[in-house]
Amino acid sequence: MEIKTGFKKRDILRHFLSAGINITPKALSILASKSLSNNDLGELIRKVSYLPDFKLHLTESILNQTEFLSNPASNSEHPPIETSKENNQDQSDLEEEFPEYSVEPNFEVKSKNSNNDITSATELAEDLIESELFVPEPQHPSNEDIIRELKTSNSSKSSGGMSRFKPIAKDYAEQIEILQDPNTNLYTTGSIDDFIAQFRDRFERLSEILLQNPEVKNVIPINEAKSLHSSGTVNIIGMVTDKSPSRGGHAIKFSLDDQTEEIDVVVRNDDRNVKTYESMIYLVKDEVVFVSGFLKVDMSYGSRVLFANKIIWPDIPMGNKTHIPSCPVSFALLSDLHIGSDNFLENVFTRFTRYLNGEIGTERDQEEAGKIKYVIVCGDLVDGIGIYADQVNELEITDIYKQYEKAAELFSKIPDYVKIIYIPGNHEPVRKAIPHPAVPSKYCKSFLDLGVTSLGDPSMIELHGIQFLLYHGDGIIDMNNNIPGLLSNKPTHTMKEFLRCRHLSPTFGKEHTEKAPTAIDWLVVDQIPHVFHTGHMHINDLGHYRNVLLVNSGCFQAQTKFMKSLGINPTPGKVPIISEKYGKLDTITLTLM
Ligand SMILES: [Fe+2]
Ligand SMILES: [Fe+2]
Repeated sequence: MEIKTGFKKRDILRHFLSAGINITPKALSILASKSLSNNDLGELIRKVSYLPDFKLHLTESILNQTEFLSNPASNSEHPPIETSKENNQDQSDLEEEFPEYSVEPNFEVKSKNSNNDITSATELAEDLIESELFVPEPQHPSNEDIIRELKTSNSSKSSGGMSRFKPIAKDYAEQIEILQDPNTNLYTTGSIDDFIAQFRDRFERLSEILLQNPEVKNVIPINEAKSLHSSGTVNIIGMVTDKSPSRGGHAIKFSLDDQTEEIDVVVRNDDRNVKTYESMIYLVKDEVVFVSGFLKVDMSYGSRVLFANKIIWPDIPMGNKTHIPSCPVSFALLSDLHIGSDNFLENVFTRFTRYLNGEIGTERDQEEAGKIKYVIVCGDLVDGIGIYADQVNELEITDIYKQYEKAAELFSKIPDYVKIIYIPGNHEPVRKAIPHPAVPSKYCKSFLDLGVTSLGDPSMIELHGIQFLLYHGDGIIDMNNNIPGLLSNKPTHTMKEFLRCRHLSPTFGKEHTEKAPTAIDWLVVDQIPHVFHTGHMHINDLGHYRNVLLVNSGCFQAQTKFMKSLGINPTPGKVPIISEKYGKLDTITLTLM
């Protein structure tokens, strides 16, 4: 049984800061006056995160909405969060409650003077310092501060050479836990039964995620909704099977299927439904969503149509917490080296291994280099053979075995205490359809002999308490094609959409990406990662989404003719390095050219 402590203000503040939530002085005082446990605070963060109006500012009013204070210990499994409008049967009065896509944890959101009731965490900390209740701590970096460039000097041994290089990562044993690896179950016959099994698995797992959201309640099966004889409010969960705009553009129509039956859903473009209508650009085929709306029954035609006023994706809760490594090590994220290609930038990669060995850069560079305990390679390590037409004309090494031997030669320069983790991409000698199996050892034995942990794509691993979702990113281009506004040079925007629908390539059919109909849908994102790492786009791009760090790691290959034809300008020689700074995960971009 957990002991209730009655936290001090600074402890409560720390809890909310770590979840990216600001708190008003009044709300802080109220909470400090209660005897609350760690579980109570965690439950409160979970509850407020699901409130539709919650914008990461915890006020007394928000506290009252949760009913948390009246019964903090109950921590009800499915807390009732009723709104007066929710049960109103008149569709016109139902408000859109779709969580805003653009809301990001931000620790300096509002000026103290702009609203007396809302104080940023930073200002509150200052107030607490003044009142001697708060011991000063380093402030969290703003989102703008997260990306800092570190240009390594060309001069070798600028701070005294190898003798001064004392890598701290050497003092810590590796800690690798493989949480999910599709390599364990990838068999498929490609039959229709396999497709059905995969879609059933996807539907059930995404439905479970949706049902954890307190707003998702009173859900009925679609066959039950379609047997109703009178119009009224109905809540359903289903998979999107079709989507099209109405003539004239006044509504979007789509169909939902929950394995019991299918129903037509209409989202009207009117004044009371603006946000829901606007959110429709993010809805793509084969996603699983919750829909609440007004069921219009026309018995004369026997038809039933659901006019939606609320759509909820599985998504990441806004109060999702970040995490820091259990020891002061850091992680270098790579992808898309394309060893074997005549565009592979070997001299740039050699600079990276020299950096890891403390051979270049300033004394501070060496200190940072010495923290790197893991090098993660997120696919396209080699260029492969026969991946696209006339590839042979752009290959310097035309033998796949020799490409891996070259990789082994280059990676053997990485210090022994640094652990290498590797998943394949679309250039590796594995099947084209995702999920990709791990590269068979017959191709890459010399590389694996370096002690490499080789996994399938996508995989989920935990390193010193930090969970990494590793996905080469084959589905990025399809998602960009399906959602207006997503661009090849901003892959982290696409990664947000994967997290919104909790799936790494939702749409099946005539898409660019081939998908294997395995019985388990390995592309469902069950567990929320701390770091989501992709590659494939050859663009170094960093971002955040609800405390998940998003990294598209870039490349070590110059622009190919194929990329030029697609208008992609790669950003080679930039390596994101992740470590803990001020209680959060921080990224430094190491610029090698
Ligand atoms: Fe690539
Ligand atoms: Fe790729």
